[in-house]
Amino acid sequence: MTVWIEGATGKAGRRVVEALTAAGVPVRAASRHPGEPSASVTPVRFDWYDESTWTPAVGDAEAVFLKGLDSDDDAAAIMTRFLAASSVSQVVLMSAVGVDRTPEVAPRRAVELAVERSGRSWTILRPSWFLQNFDEDEWVFAGALREKNELYAGSGKSRVGFTDTRDLADAAVAVLTEEGHEGRGYTITGPDQLTFGEMAELLAEVSGRPIHHVDATPSEHRAHFAKSGRPEAWVNHMLHLFELVRAGVFSPVTEDFEHLTGKKPRTPRQYAEENWQPRALPAKG
Ligand SMILES: NC(=O)c1ccc[n+]([C@@H]2O[C@H](COP(=O)([O-])OP(=O)(O)OC[C@H]3O[C@@H](n4cnc5c(N)ncnc54)[C@H](OP(=O)(O)O)[C@@H]3O)[C@@H](O)[C@H]2O)c1
Repeated sequence: MTVWIEGATGKAGRRVVEALTAAGVPVRAASRHPGEPSASVTPVRFDWYDESTWTPAVGDAEAVFLKGLDSDDDAAAIMTRFLAASSVSQVVLMSAVGVDRTPEVAPRRAVELAVERSGRSWTILRPSWFLQNFDEDEWVFAGALREKNELYAGSGKSRVGFTDTRDLADAAVAVLTEEGHEGRGYTITGPDQLTFGEMAELLAEVSGRPIHHVDATPSEHRAHFAKSGRPEAWVNHMLHLFELVRAGVFSPVTEDFEHLTGKKPRTPRQYAEENWQPRALPAKG
């Protein structure tokens, strides 16, 4: 079986590529700017907004790992067209915690329904917030953390079951390669519920830097995200995500990851100790 992976250079997709190839599964790694090929990875150019790239990119893959478009009102219609044009038999969609409890017309739920109604064997993974946002996503958190020691998040005191994208990837391998996951959804979280204030304290402790949480108001947050130069739809999407954080939508922790993989999920502390240790200074000559 060959698996086609969308968003293959992103925080999640990159780990899915690594985990599948480690499991011996050949992959086609799709993005607008594909990377270098290797023995079991075929990078392919794919753009949701250029339909001529769709069929050649998927090629002979039998299964797909999809994340879809999340700040586009037409995301569900685009997903429906994409799946109708492809001959894959198995679809794994990465959605997000709580999307299954939103109305059918909500954009992310509409994408889930496009997959569920595609006539293919489907499974949906619904991860919580990624720990990798803290060091890899420039405009979500990484830039302000690096430059100002600010964990800039209008979250209030709500808790989040932060998850490591390596665990999401291991869950993807399980549902793509094992039987029994057809027509099912799994909520993938870490084991701990932390506030953003507690996460800032953890990063400060491990890094030795004066990292602190900035509990931005929605208008401050809008101004912060607007500086990214990204489209307004993305800014609105981010503000909506923080509304959901404040409403506690991302606070659950589940045992779905352990049931799927037989392993304990990584903790925020494990992530911090692997990624936020102060760099050793070179010895003075
Ligand atoms: N971040 C979180 O905390 C979190 C939590 C739960 C769920 N999710 C879900 O995860 C998804 C985001 O995944 P991620 O954080 O791994 O993404 P990411 O790090 O932002 O990476 C985006 C990926 O998509 C590709 N891409 C961007 N625009 C594209 C286009 N027009 N056509 C084709 N490919 C395109 C990028 O590569 P190129 O630029 O080379 O095309 C890259 O590989 C979202 O759908 C979100 O709902 C995220």
